[in-house]
Amino acid sequence: MRLKGKSALITGSARGIGKAFAEAYAREGATVAIADIDVEAAEATAKAIGSAAYAVRLDVTDQSSIEAAVKAVEAKTGGLDVLINNAAVFDLAPIVEITRASYEKLFSVNVAGTLFMLQAAARSMIARGKGGRIINMASQAGRRGEPLVAVYCATKAAVISLTQSAGLDLIKHRINVNGIAPGVVDSDMWDQVDALFAKYENRPKGEKKRLVGEGVPYGRMGKPEDLAGMAVFLASDEAEYIVAQTYNVDGGQWMS
Ligand SMILES: NC(=O)c1ccc[n+]([C@@H]2O[C@H](COP(=O)([O-])OP(=O)(O)OC[C@H]3O[C@@H](n4cnc5c(N)ncnc54)[C@H](O)[C@@H]3O)[C@@H](O)[C@H]2O)c1
Repeated sequence: MRLKGKSALITGSARGIGKAFAEAYAREGATVAIADIDVEAAEATAKAIGSAAYAVRLDVTDQSSIEAAVKAVEAKTGGLDVLINNAAVFDLAPIVEITRASYEKLFSVNVAGTLFMLQAAARSMIARGKGGRIINMASQAGRRGEPLVAVYCATKAAVISLTQSAGLDLIKHRINVNGIAPGVVDSDMWDQVDALFAKYENRPKGEKKRLVGEGVPYGRMGKPEDLAGMAVFLASDEAEYIVAQTYNVDGGQWMS
């Protein structure tokens, strides 16, 4: 029960990694807002978790939706202790084929969504005066570029940078901001990644996923649950002195 009595909001937690975080947080004693643009899936996830979880409609690209989600958490639990900025979208194209629409969508969800969600959470935490924890989902894609993945990689590099700046700015309010950089994790997002690689690298469906899994030093792709231990730790009392870091949790893929 390392998160007993804590109130958490996890963006994009209707499925995938965010859902695994919500399940782990509930097991550790937290109350969790399953905040997602797909509100039906968020309601199903909250129902499956039980009384420790509730669904909140959230579009991280919409400022009024961000503010309403934070207010909903305050009304339900009395205040926000932990935010996980987990919602993100993916796309892939060679440099000469990147569209402005794809660029704007990815930066709007992955970067602006992270920043303004973090800002709204920080305002709420500062007003309450009890500090807090903010965890941003980066990626190994933010550690280096990839030929077909320029825009997504750039968004995740921006998340690592925002984590550093926000971490340094907010620690005076006892708000610790840190990040997690997963490697390759089997989720709906990776099914989309696989389908796009199949198109651009002319591969059979499923081949890219198999190859990346074989390439992980641990010997397989990550599962959403593999990330949960770090997300619990960073929100727990043991992580009090950790500020502005982004941790790789990737089966040995990246060293930095
Ligand atoms: N899957 C991987 O291999 C991998 C690797 C590295 C990093 N990550 C990161 O981990 C996080 C979770 O990834 P995942 O694989 O579980 O993704 P996913 O696509 O399975 O789930 C993402 C969730 O975000 C929600 N979402 C999308 N746009 C939203 C918006 N505008 N507002 C609110 N919610 C929105 C979706 O409805 C969905 O429920 C993301 O930040 C992703 O970039 C994933």
